[in-house]
Amino acid sequence: MKKILKNIGCWLDDRGGFSDLLKPLTTHLVPPESTWNYVWGSATLFCFILQVITGIALGFLYQPSVDVAYQSLQYIENQAFMGSFIRGLHNWGASGMVFLMGMHMIRVYLNAAYKYPREMSWITGVVLMVITIVMAFTGQLLRWDNNGVWSAIVAAEQMGRIPLIGDSLAYFLLGGDTIGGETLNRFFAMHVFLFPALLFSFVGYHLYLVFRNGISEPPKVGRLVNPKTYKKWYEDMLIKKGVPFFPDAIWRDAVFSAFVLIVIVCLAWFIGAPELSSKPDLTNVNSNPKPDWYFTWIFALFALMPREIESYVMFLGPLLVGILLFSIPFLSNKGERSPLRRPWAITGVVFIILSISSLWYVGIQEPWSPRFDAKPLSEYTTVPDASTEIKKGIELFNTVGCIYCHRIGNQGGIRGPELTNVQNRLTKDQMVIRIVNGAENMPAYGGSLSKEELEAIVIFLSAKEKQ
Ligand code: HEC
Repeated sequence: MKKILKNIGCWLDDRGGFSDLLKPLTTHLVPPESTWNYVWGSATLFCFILQVITGIALGFLYQPSVDVAYQSLQYIENQAFMGSFIRGLHNWGASGMVFLMGMHMIRVYLNAAYKYPREMSWITGVVLMVITIVMAFTGQLLRWDNNGVWSAIVAAEQMGRIPLIGDSLAYFLLGGDTIGGETLNRFFAMHVFLFPALLFSFVGYHLYLVFRNGISEPPKVGRLVNPKTYKKWYEDMLIKKGVPFFPDAIWRDAVFSAFVLIVIVCLAWFIGAPELSSKPDLTNVNSNPKPDWYFTWIFALFALMPREIESYVMFLGPLLVGILLFSIPFLSNKGERSPLRRPWAITGVVFIILSISSLWYVGIQEPWSPRFDAKPLSEYTTVPDASTEIKKGIELFNTVGCIYCHRIGNQGGIRGPELTNVQNRLTKDQMVIRIVNGAENMPAYGGSLSKEELEAIVIFLSAKEKQ
């Protein structure tokens, strides 16, 4: 019996070449000091694998069609065996992947591991980052509930403002002029075919590069990278001091990935995936989109920006960030690697983390969405000694919903500009034009307000000393 098994084993290995596949792992040498700082990348990879597995499981039950998507998710959530837990894993796995990818990127940047000869690792890494973000974004829409759908609408609306190509881009993204069945189908195809295929290819290449060039040795102050001599130095160093990747280094990756898995399992078990908000109602402007946490800060950034520059920033911002990220290894690919000698690198990272966290904090307060629970303005205190007409204007401001988006004094939503001192910016006629015609994110009131009502609102808005 033992002999038969051994024979089968030998045959498999001889014809299948498995040990040839695994051998590089045991003979591949890594620098001896590669410590816990090196686990971020492998943990990101681990999350990716988890996403593939849970994604396929969800794919067995999910139906990408407008009529039934929401029901199929309800089924997954409430009836399917472990459905709710697997949805939770997929959701927190996505969060984990985005977070760990960010940490991996920061680590590589601070250690300047993108310098010679690993420029291509950085470049493929940036591509992987973009694809991961797209995956997270397209995944949100598949939830096909109010939150997912409206987040996608807001994003498409923003994309539509990119000069020249914006409209076509938004059209391509939504599969039509408006969001609908085509959109869901398109996002589904992107989320399960196109981008995973790209992700697999680039992950494969990224890993090949890691093996080909070896992982970067921990930087040391004063040890400069010289492209002319680096490769030889690195090889000599490995021969002298290198340790085999398997098992000397891989155990840290395994331990950390196991830890990540435990955290994700706990989050999925105890918190679960976001509750499915109600079925999307595409005619309902009362929707209140809550994008997933990793997008909140971008929504906040756009909501806070002066509207005149929004379109440019939307277009130029990602372009500039992209160009900057891609050019990092070309700007400096040799010399000092230690973060202690690259104070600007540390400053940059701290600055980015601080900006993102403060935007994130703002984002949680959702400036982009109307506040339907805004406290109505009081007709007694908002304008002192108000005339009847102004009182009528105040009341209308509350009842037709201007207050949901506009702040006066310190009451009201922040979706639109604050109107406390609007009389200094706009003439009465300009106000009328705006209210009648609406704007990018403001409904047109021409059809729903009578001439007298319009007059009353404008007189109120023109009043001084609003509070
Ligand atoms: C759904 C949110 C929303 C509602 C409801 C809304 N607005 Fe607006 N409003 C906006 C936004 C957004 C802008 C900025 C539009 C732009 O210029 O891009 C705006 C702009 C304005 C402006 C021009 C302000 C300026 O400084 O340029 C006025 C005046 C105004 N709204 C009045 C009103 C009045 C009056 C009502 C109620 C009848 C109202 N809005 C209801 C979102 C809203």
